[in-house]
Amino acid sequence: MANNLFVSGHPLVEHKITQLRDVTTDFRQFRSIVAELAMILAYEATADLATQPVEVLTPLTTTAGSKFDARVGLAPILRAGLGMVDGMLSLIPQAEVWHLGFYRDEQTLQPVIYYNKLPKDLSTHTCFVLDPMLATGGSALAAVDILKRRGVIRIKFVGLLAAPEGIAALHGTHPDVAVHVAAVDERLTTAADTADGFPPGFIWPGLGDAGDRQFGTR
Ligand code: PRP
Repeated sequence: MANNLFVSGHPLVEHKITQLRDVTTDFRQFRSIVAELAMILAYEATADLATQPVEVLTPLTTTAGSKFDARVGLAPILRAGLGMVDGMLSLIPQAEVWHLGFYRDEQTLQPVIYYNKLPKDLSTHTCFVLDPMLATGGSALAAVDILKRRGVIRIKFVGLLAAPEGIAALHGTHPDVAVHVAAVDERLTTAADTADGFPPGFIWPGLGDAGDRQFGTR
């Protein structure tokens, strides 16, 4: 559903995502760029959140202002989504962090959940699912399924790179979930790419494995 896909065209985003793609970017640089991109995308993805009118006293007089007091939950998908949390929190410090641990089974590419730290009361929050990579879409879809089953109504996905296949999968089941990303790449790798040494299910041309590249476990 193209009208619920937001690809940042910001020059700083395009510059930084190019740095992330660069194989010579080391993991310290990679981590800090992921955090910077998360902050910029947080700015874009929160543009429609509600504010409350307030009155503010300036040194000269009182005037009308507004207060951003939305209840926000950040749901980083471990591991790679962790790197986006601090960037988001720097703009939305009142947000709660709801960790969800998934890994992809290397054979089936299906997400396997191993950790779930959702709080009890979350139905009034706007939730941002955080994961740098939307590849097959399986992990994001599973995260959104869990959140909706727990009563979350407003969910957005914030990532760095998406494959068209992942966007189609997520929006095929959850067209209401806005997808905010830095870039949409060409495709996923397939079995045909394994001859060149690339495992299937990776975003192409992509940036490699965002978890390994952030945490130095390549
Ligand atoms: C990667 C990535 C996403 C998922 C995307 O995680 O960070 O979570 O795969 O793939 P999908 O859209 O096909 O589900 P990975 O399984 O490598 O785990 P890690 O972050 O712990 O390395």
